[in-house]
Amino acid sequence: MQTDLRGRDSIAPELEWTRDEIETLLDVAWDLKRKRAVGEPHAYLRDKVLGLLFFFTSTRTRASFEAGMAQLGGHAMFIDSETTQISHGDTAKEIGEIIGRYTDGIAIRQCDWNFGNRYIREVAAASRVPVMNMQDEVFHPFQILADLMTIQERFGRDLRGKTINVSYAYASSYQKPLSVPQSLILMMTRFGMNVRLTRPPEFDLMPEIMDQSRENAKKSGGSFEVLDDFDAGFEGADIVYPKSWGCWMTTEDKNESSVIGKKYTDWITDDRRMALANEQCVYMHCLPADRNIEVTDSVIDGPQSVVYDEAENRLHVQKAAMALTMR
Ligand code: CP
Repeated sequence: MQTDLRGRDSIAPELEWTRDEIETLLDVAWDLKRKRAVGEPHAYLRDKVLGLLFFFTSTRTRASFEAGMAQLGGHAMFIDSETTQISHGDTAKEIGEIIGRYTDGIAIRQCDWNFGNRYIREVAAASRVPVMNMQDEVFHPFQILADLMTIQERFGRDLRGKTINVSYAYASSYQKPLSVPQSLILMMTRFGMNVRLTRPPEFDLMPEIMDQSRENAKKSGGSFEVLDDFDAGFEGADIVYPKSWGCWMTTEDKNESSVIGKKYTDWITDDRRMALANEQCVYMHCLPADRNIEVTDSVIDGPQSVVYDEAENRLHVQKAAMALTMR
């Protein structure tokens, strides 16, 4: 167990934290989940303030960080990029310097392609307090930590030999970031799982993330394979995580990506596909999902779905990160 994470940034823990540090965060998350369940106070961050800076909309991330900070005895300060001087030119360095002097931690969601992760790192470089990544275009660490916690709740802490299918699914709403599938393949290959990435050829992920995932699988004794057949991805899987993402590696053009996406409208998770997986298989999705486009109601509302546990576990892993890094 690593007991000194004070001051650590969590921008890409799936890549940058040791396995021991990740296990420590999960231990604390389970303890905090238990404390909340039995009503045991845990105001570890009394009088502390967390700045929450959003460049994009959010339901779960905002609500869980705000609730978590209140439960830890502190305050979460919501900052919207559109209604502050950030929209008139406050730079990343200025935000790091200034908000860092008002607060004890800064959390940021900035998903612009080729910009978000760099922006968060620039804020961190200028900030005297730890910075947390609430999603950028490359990583979504707290979603994936919550997913890991959810998987371990279902299958135990030793995940070696379990098969997870991280799959593209069609959605009509917008060109979503690559961050969820990328953080998933990075994290799950570190835990000795058999990780499948199933996607149409236009929906590749970043090559450096793919290379790192292969390397992780080699080191952990797991495996990493890439498929392009939607049905095949379900076969024999213990966990399926089919969700939409954009074809960013093929085109950044919205219209072109929409035309490409329309070739794959049949990539929808339904009961027939779920029946191809193992009997105990769980269905996962970070939400929001495009219902009856990405996944049928019968699957997402069905007995194999753990989507609400994933959403709940956002609260516990984020509280653990705050308690460990913002003391
Ligand atoms: N899963 C997730 O990050 O949800 P929000 O976009 O609502 O925060």
